[in-house]
Amino acid sequence: MHDFLSRLGIEELNCGAWAPGPRSTSGRRVESIDPATGKPIAAVALATLEDYEAVVSESRRAFVQWRQLPAPKRGEIVREMANAMRDHKEELGSLVTLEVGKILEEGKGEVQESIDIADFAVGLSRQLYGLSMHSERPGHRMYEQWHPIGPVGCITAFNFPNAVWAWNAMLAAICGDTVIWKPSLKAPLTAIATHRVCNAVLEKHGWGGVFTLIIGDDGDVGETMINDRRLPLISATGSTRMGRHVGQAVAKRLGRSLLELGGNNAIIVEPDADLDLALIGILFGAVGTAGQRCTSTRRVYLHEDVASDLTRRLVSAYGQVRIGNPLESGTLMGPLIDDDAVATYESAIATIRDQGGEVLCGGHRIDGSGSYVQPTIVQATEGMDIWRHETFAPILYLFTYTDIEDAIARQNDVDQGLSSAVFTGGFRAAETFLSAAGSDCGIANVNIGTSGAEIGGAFGGEKDTGGGRESGSDAWKSYMRRQTCTLNWSKELPLAQGVTFDL
Ligand code: UN1
Repeated sequence: MHDFLSRLGIEELNCGAWAPGPRSTSGRRVESIDPATGKPIAAVALATLEDYEAVVSESRRAFVQWRQLPAPKRGEIVREMANAMRDHKEELGSLVTLEVGKILEEGKGEVQESIDIADFAVGLSRQLYGLSMHSERPGHRMYEQWHPIGPVGCITAFNFPNAVWAWNAMLAAICGDTVIWKPSLKAPLTAIATHRVCNAVLEKHGWGGVFTLIIGDDGDVGETMINDRRLPLISATGSTRMGRHVGQAVAKRLGRSLLELGGNNAIIVEPDADLDLALIGILFGAVGTAGQRCTSTRRVYLHEDVASDLTRRLVSAYGQVRIGNPLESGTLMGPLIDDDAVATYESAIATIRDQGGEVLCGGHRIDGSGSYVQPTIVQATEGMDIWRHETFAPILYLFTYTDIEDAIARQNDVDQGLSSAVFTGGFRAAETFLSAAGSDCGIANVNIGTSGAEIGGAFGGEKDTGGGRESGSDAWKSYMRRQTCTLNWSKELPLAQGVTFDL
């Protein structure tokens, strides 16, 4: 038993799902598996639909109170949550690593991302600004204000089991919403621990119920949640397939959805690029988190003048990536999340070979316990189309080009539109890439890879990525309802547009 688990209060092997009142009575459990060994870490009781009902009532009860607390006061509580996560950064980061297999540096980085968004939300709690307008009528005032929208359903994926919830929860909390979290069944322990750390702060202030957690199957709990009219906003992170289903269900009841779905992110390398930077950017983007970020680099477009040099350097760098137990320092790449992910990787490699792609390095599962694979570089050839699909694994496709406009057009020629990057020393290529005719993605970087965005900007993408924006900038507006108010302080009742309506 790792001691950081007991420091997080996860002492027993049967953790139990959180629900008010008695623990889940379903009798069914889900095991959390350590992907580095394939062995179970703990079993968690699965919630029933009755548990779901209890959680929703609790969340609604808390909402009607929480929304009345002034936003800066809500911010003070969020500041304490940021500090609680700071105090537990090491343990939470280690648990992320243990449960989903990303290296410890990235596990702790993820918790830092949660701390950062909480800090951001504290400042934002005094900046939920609405506009004021000049009325066309004398003695009238017009302005808009933002109100809490209600309990928010938050569905998260395994790959960011802590931070993606925090992006949503910290903003929703300062906005006056309550949050019902349905985490991935592949990472229930991180959810329980994260929830406990933040809830201890809320409970200390008498605000239990602002954050709730429901660990349940997609088929019953998930379906009920997305169709539940009591949840005006569903924020979901995961595959495009999942998002299309969630988006349709929520749209059918005219609810609001915030979708952060698949990516197919590319890096373009211009001939005047600093190749040392490009190499690191590509390596971190494609191999970091074992290629399991929605922002992972999947494609690289190399200018023909640098293609052979950079390809050689990339293959050599891939050969030096230390693959192993993600909790050990020095490891650069841990396992995939599970054996299903390994099977998906192997099937993609088989398709690549069938389609005539040349595997330059990697391409195999690593024998032994744990879900390890080799990071893989593929020289893409005419006629291949597997690169159009997001394979959640460290497989990188290389292409060559001669002209930046062509490279941008090919980068954009996929269904997804999350993240993109160009490496260049030149002004023209950078501005072309960032122009309206440039990258069509939600994120466009110059001399930075596709992954590892800071929390201060709005995060999300276009097309099959779902169009949602989470995290920084004005993403908070998704968690509130806008109200336009017009006040008449005159002694007349003039109508807008000069309409007269006299008896
Ligand atoms: C995700 O993979 O779902 O930009 C989120 C990044 C991280 C977030 C990734 N800050 O890579």
